[in-house]
Amino acid sequence: MKAIVYTKYGPPDVLQLKEVEKPIPKDDEVLIEVHAASVNAYDWHLLTADIFLVRLMGGGLLKPKNTIPGIDIAGRVETVGRNVKQFRPGDEVFGDISASSNGGFAEYVSVPESALVLKPGNLSFEEAAAVPMAAVTALKGLRDQGRIQPGQKVLINGASGGVGTFAVQIAKSFGAEVTAVCSTRNLDMARSLGADHVIDYTQEDFTQNGQQYDLILAVNGYHPIAAYKRALTPKGIYVMAGGSTAQIFQAMLLGPGLSITGDKKMGGVSGKPNQKDLAFMKVLLEAGKVVPVIDRRYPLSETAEALRYLGEGHARGKVVITVAHNNG
Ligand SMILES: NC(=O)c1ccc[n+]([C@@H]2O[C@H](COP(=O)([O-])OP(=O)(O)OC[C@H]3O[C@@H](n4cnc5c(N)ncnc54)[C@H](OP(=O)(O)O)[C@@H]3O)[C@@H](O)[C@H]2O)c1
Repeated sequence: MKAIVYTKYGPPDVLQLKEVEKPIPKDDEVLIEVHAASVNAYDWHLLTADIFLVRLMGGGLLKPKNTIPGIDIAGRVETVGRNVKQFRPGDEVFGDISASSNGGFAEYVSVPESALVLKPGNLSFEEAAAVPMAAVTALKGLRDQGRIQPGQKVLINGASGGVGTFAVQIAKSFGAEVTAVCSTRNLDMARSLGADHVIDYTQEDFTQNGQQYDLILAVNGYHPIAAYKRALTPKGIYVMAGGSTAQIFQAMLLGPGLSITGDKKMGGVSGKPNQKDLAFMKVLLEAGKVVPVIDRRYPLSETAEALRYLGEGHARGKVVITVAHNNG
């Protein structure tokens, strides 16, 4: 089968399209004919090892541990291992396979059934592949760490990328009053996703305008953690999903300390991918409450280009890889 392979960390040029062995599913695994995948910041970090921690956290110290990247997939079940109970050949599925060995940028991948959920019937493979990691990150941040409630004032900083476009829609589905922070060119898109208010970060600093929010999800950009705290209502919650390295480290290192005094809570998104959260998203997707936003599509052979584009940091929604099969 064809797959995108890399054997050393580096820029997207280290990715090569190669002919490799088709995987054989273990007893608890499902072999999937991949029809689409999507690229995530996660893939970028594992490609470039730009944050050294990636190597220590299981990416491989000197070279990548998993040589076929790709963690968000959608496809059709080809065969199942003997202990697989939930899926049959022919089922259309989607999932975040980062808890197993990656390998989604390929014609086939074999993964534990626990990583998969039946694809929403109203979504194409490409739309479904756009969902898992970004949407579940937004869901966990808003619902689990953020304890979102109807009527709350919720601000999404970095509302126009992969995680942010899902976050705006998920927050609306929980009945929140949503403020989306993005740049000028993305204001209309944020409104079309349901944002009640938009703030152009090139014109206005939301941490300086005196407004306060019950929940802030920080997805992109950077503000000092003390500035986020100032923008919270007295019992407000700040959840960091991503952004600049400084933003990530401040939330991890200073968040717990800043949460001790007073009622404000400051922390980060946590939790592993799981079927339950993806099944929750499937319901929202099938109800049309959440619609994946796809910026660009690339064929498997141009995965390096897709990652290069993502790495520029200005994707509008998700970047998707399409995987063609000769069987139609
Ligand atoms: N914790 C987790 O489990 C988890 C999971 C997935 C992702 N993440 C993290 O979440 C972050 C975002 O991921 P993503 O997939 O949404 O990335 P992405 O799709 O690459 O984000 C691109 C978007 O960010 C916007 N942006 C850039 N600079 C900004 C700024 N200063 N303020 C506001 N928006 C800005 C861009 O808009 P403009 O072009 O208009 O600037 C663009 O639309 C990453 O740091 C990633 O590592 C965490």
